Amino acid sequence: MGSLVPKCLGGPSGDGRNTPQLADGGPAEMLLLRPIMRGPWGLQRTPRLAAVAWGSHPQVCAAWTPSRTYDTWSAGHGSRRRKVMAVGALLGLGASLAYGDHRRQASEAEPNAEAAPEVPYPTFTRQEVGQHHNLAERVWVTYGSEVFDITDFVELHPGGKGKILLAAGGALEPFWAMYAVHGQEHVLEILQGYKVGELSPEESSQPAQGDPYSGDPPRHPALKVNSLKPFNAEPPAELLTENYLTPNQLFFKRNHLPVPAVDPASYRLEVEGPGGRVLVLSLPELKRRFPKHEVTVTLQCAGNRRSEMSRVRQVKGLEWGVAAISTARWGGVWLRDVLAHAGYREEEEEEAGERHVCFEGLDKDLSGAAYGASIPYRMAMGRGAEVLLAYEMNGEELPQDHGYPLRVVVPGVVGARNVKWLGRISVSREESPSHWQQNDYKGFSPAVDWETVDFTTAPAIQELPVQSAITDPAPGATVPPRELTVKGYAWSGGGRGVVRVDVSLDGGRTWHVAELMGEEQRPGRAWAWRLWRLTAPVPPDRMELDIVCKAVDTSYNVQPDTVEPIWNLRGVLSNAWHRVRVTVAKD
Ligand code: MTE
Repeated sequence: MGSLVPKCLGGPSGDGRNTPQLADGGPAEMLLLRPIMRGPWGLQRTPRLAAVAWGSHPQVCAAWTPSRTYDTWSAGHGSRRRKVMAVGALLGLGASLAYGDHRRQASEAEPNAEAAPEVPYPTFTRQEVGQHHNLAERVWVTYGSEVFDITDFVELHPGGKGKILLAAGGALEPFWAMYAVHGQEHVLEILQGYKVGELSPEESSQPAQGDPYSGDPPRHPALKVNSLKPFNAEPPAELLTENYLTPNQLFFKRNHLPVPAVDPASYRLEVEGPGGRVLVLSLPELKRRFPKHEVTVTLQCAGNRRSEMSRVRQVKGLEWGVAAISTARWGGVWLRDVLAHAGYREEEEEEAGERHVCFEGLDKDLSGAAYGASIPYRMAMGRGAEVLLAYEMNGEELPQDHGYPLRVVVPGVVGARNVKWLGRISVSREESPSHWQQNDYKGFSPAVDWETVDFTTAPAIQELPVQSAITDPAPGATVPPRELTVKGYAWSGGGRGVVRVDVSLDGGRTWHVAELMGEEQRPGRAWAWRLWRLTAPVPPDRMELDIVCKAVDTSYNVQPDTVEPIWNLRGVLSNAWHRVRVTVAKD
């Protein structure tokens, strides 16, 4: 039997639109049943009013008794990582990670030998459920018409108590509405193991939900949507390189949470100065006090081209194609001017290296935790640093999806540090405590899996490696028989320019040098991509072409030729040679 492999898992940064599938293509449903059978109490129930008491739950004891002791699901819950994962699954902080939890439990589980006859679950009113709103009263939640006692789950995962208790005594839907991923079967399976009853029929219709995404802006219909809530989308690859500056509407969009509604009149940026003094700036003040600068910068998501990694071995995250990268001319003020105004100064490298500039967005999850990230202090405050607090994008007011009214633009650095809807800046000896700085956006060896990963051991991704991709022709296209034009983009992190793009039409045996287009970049400050094009004769008698591209940057870094050696469980930093297979039309 094949292993259970999630085709597209979301997690803190994922959508998980696809249901789990077997690697060998078999019916996933069969496996999905196993953990349900082995839930804390199994599916079999002894008749109502059984005399055996368990736990501290009088109502349930009076109604029915678990047919098996609470064993399999609690066994082996030792590691801190798994605790975090499982709690995330219930309240939206890592549903994809919960999958690993679930999968292990499924594999640890043994088939339930004897199935006892089904008996109906007891029914409860919402008021009764509401009485179970803390650990002392036990923690109950509802989902749809079902009632779950998740006390034991919470106790096994103390790290997540604060968050999970937000839902105690009530419905899970408002929490899951925030993370569309949670309707997924694997999370529901985990929950099923904790079912204790049904809502009484007159109360079982779902409570009216406010959709936290109802304030999201309209988007361009050409975008290829990777997840709707939160919204994540990329332009079609062929459109991406039609323009050197990506039109705002087509610029890739990467949101972890709902787009916050920010009132420009009441908007204030807080900058925590040395000694804790807070500088508060309205948008007009920011624009008035500091000179305006414009920089053309390419932003790339760490997960760009992740889908190619998934083809080698499944990874967790949104299945981005080659277009989670875009370029804009950003207008705003230097971060270093604002930090200097708040009382910070340019420092010697050694001293400055120990500090970090932390950014907080105004987008928050249901626990009130904001999206956050940080960059090293020298990156922000070094002489001539070009980190922007941007309020304009391609000459227009910053669009809602891209951080209106103010965002950070850190040239040469992974998209994740370019915090949108910027609310607060602080300087700290520690990197941002945010989940997205500490427990995501880090690279690992192909040897590391979800059982062994330790996020504390890897540095947060900042500068990205050299990258290029073919945007035209599309994979599977039919190309003309004699001459072919290939187009694409190339870019490198850290201000390293692109010196060359090599293109092969025969899988890498022979090479052509592409023509670089777009703006020449300043040495050491090559913040924006080069577009490239190659027009070459199609080798005679070929029915198929294996087109490949690779870029070389100013440090002579070159892209790796295959995905396998750079594969990592989160599918980040995917920059192997890009390959596109096409068919040659008959002459
Ligand atoms: N900032 C906030 N406040 N919230 C977010 O979800 N996503 C980050 C970054 N800044 C994010 C954020 C990520 S992962 C990326 S790749 C970029 O924004 C994407 O920027 P874009 O949507 O303007 O393309």
